[in-house]
Amino acid sequence: MSVRTPIVLDVDTGVDDACALLLAALHPSLDLRAVTCVGGNAPLPDVVRNTLSVLDTCGRQGVPVGAGAARPLLEAPVDARHVHGDDGMGDLDWPRSNRGPGSRQAVELLRDVLLEAAAGSEEDRITLVPLAPMTNIALLLRTYPEAARGLERIVFMGGAAHLGNATASAEFNVFHDPEAAAITLDACADLGIEVVMYGLDVFYGPRVSLAEARDLVAAHDTGPAGLAGRLMAFQCERFGADSATLGDAGAVCAVLDPDGLTTERLPVRVELAGTWSRGRTIVDRRDWDGNLAHDPHGQAPALIDVALEVDGPRYARLWLETVTGKVAGFPG
Ligand code: RIB
Ligand code: CA
Repeated sequence: MSVRTPIVLDVDTGVDDACALLLAALHPSLDLRAVTCVGGNAPLPDVVRNTLSVLDTCGRQGVPVGAGAARPLLEAPVDARHVHGDDGMGDLDWPRSNRGPGSRQAVELLRDVLLEAAAGSEEDRITLVPLAPMTNIALLLRTYPEAARGLERIVFMGGAAHLGNATASAEFNVFHDPEAAAITLDACADLGIEVVMYGLDVFYGPRVSLAEARDLVAAHDTGPAGLAGRLMAFQCERFGADSATLGDAGAVCAVLDPDGLTTERLPVRVELAGTWSRGRTIVDRRDWDGNLAHDPHGQAPALIDVALEVDGPRYARLWLETVTGKVAGFPG
């Protein structure tokens, strides 16, 4: 029986995916069972290389890594190197891993890890944390729906009730592969999978200051804290800001500390058409009594815990204490 929360990350590493990997790899209450990669913030080969580097930095070479979809289901791939640097991880010249990904493709790795969890006890059920376009997740749930038995829930970074970033309407992960996001939500409704949406409404809340980032680098030249400081300093410097968001790492904080998040269970759909709104998550906040004569459009089938507020300083503290090894029981 596991006392730690079994967790799997699906990433497009990505500066803030790297921050999320640091937390998931190092926090003693999490049992990181696998990491799967998808093209998104950077092309897939860069994502895989960056992911392996972060795991190596944490001494977590034993965590299986699977390379997945190199492109969205329908859309042409786009990346976000203007945000994350040419190499996708801040152009830090950080030591590269000399490993490659495992031989199992991401969807097969996810299937195997989930079926193994399904064969175990309740405590073995996996919390799946997609922090990237949900191409791998959509393929998994449509190809191997039986794997959902191994899921505790999905906590994904993506979408928003109110904001966009890739466009005025849409958040990048959902914008990048709207069909995958729509399929994932549809499958979750069908298969009875609990979902938390950690979207842009909370994404910018947990922050680390440039001064804190520089202090981390000064105190830790190498290792997880040195990488953490450099990642945050890169973001501050790129945007000329005196602080930067933890981004995707906030979704991992939400797994560790759900009380730091305020959520509301709401119907959510993904806009697949729309001239300016493709990829928007339509969060239904109507005071709706289910009267189809009054409102023939009805509610979305997917009821999701949408994160609307976050205690940013609390999550930033959790992350900083973990990457600097101050959390009790720190394994490294
Ligand atoms: O929309 C925010 C983007 O930055 C997403 O790709 C998210 O996962 C982060 O990496
Ligand atoms: Ca990401």
